[in-house]
Amino acid sequence: MRIHASIASLREARAVAGRVAFVPTMGNLHDGHIALVQAARQHAGIDAVIASVFVNRLQFGQGEDFDKYPRTFEADCEKLAAAGVDHLFAPDEAVMYPQPQRYCVEPDPVHASILEGAFRPGHFRGVATIVLKLFNIVQPDGAIFGKKDYQQVMVLKNMVRELALPIDIIALDTTRAADGLAQSSRNGYLTMEERAEAPRLYRQLSFIAEAVRQGAGDFARLEAAALTELEQNGWKPDYLTVRRRTDLQAPKEPEEPLVVLAAARLGTTRLIDNIEI
Ligand code: PAJ
Repeated sequence: MRIHASIASLREARAVAGRVAFVPTMGNLHDGHIALVQAARQHAGIDAVIASVFVNRLQFGQGEDFDKYPRTFEADCEKLAAAGVDHLFAPDEAVMYPQPQRYCVEPDPVHASILEGAFRPGHFRGVATIVLKLFNIVQPDGAIFGKKDYQQVMVLKNMVRELALPIDIIALDTTRAADGLAQSSRNGYLTMEERAEAPRLYRQLSFIAEAVRQGAGDFARLEAAALTELEQNGWKPDYLTVRRRTDLQAPKEPEEPLVVLAAARLGTTRLIDNIEI
């Protein structure tokens, strides 16, 4: 695996890399990230896999965990090389943001001001801006993202479509620990007791998904019961809600594909998860 710290070096390698699948990350890699790399390698017609590691200040709000976000570059390099990444783009802030980023991608507020966007104002503007910038540098044919960040995938698919970017967005299922907890870099913040409690979020989402599959239609009642259950066990939920998959708005038609999504704080750690129904 070759590591590129500069845009020029990455571009030079990309120019002779053929068809490229791209996996952007913020590092501190776990099995979920590695599953994306493996999917990238197996994607039809791909000649090379490029990954990136960059903790993007622009998508963190004031008071969020940008400064304490875990940075484990050497371990990340080992994992990516072992998973078969050909090129790693690992710029520092001076490379990505040599001056304040004033030209930004403003996603449709209908998509970006709800759910995560309601609790993290500006988050998806930061995500869309860095992902467009990375796309312009890497010029991939396809890019792989995790459904763990369901709204992120939705926003990015719409960005690619509306800006006519010639890039396939591929969304992969969430990788979980044996007890159901979605793998996340933020799981490392949990104390031992919190780690034991954390799978309750997935269990509540699974319960709702199963109830809806069995025909339950009173989403508000299911949501309220799950929120109460979380609160009674020490969680501070931001939201837990059944939405339609396409644009994450409230469901309107009977046969629409649905997803149940949640974000909740356990101690000082904010966890998100979702399940397609
Ligand atoms: P990060 O949180 O590092 O995640 C990188 C990619 O891994 C994202 O596509 C995310 O959805 C995926 N991922 C995380 N946990 C996963 C899991 N348990 N199973 C499957 N996929 C998982 O998401 C970001 O970084 C940033 O917003 C980024 C897109 C890199 C822009 O800065």
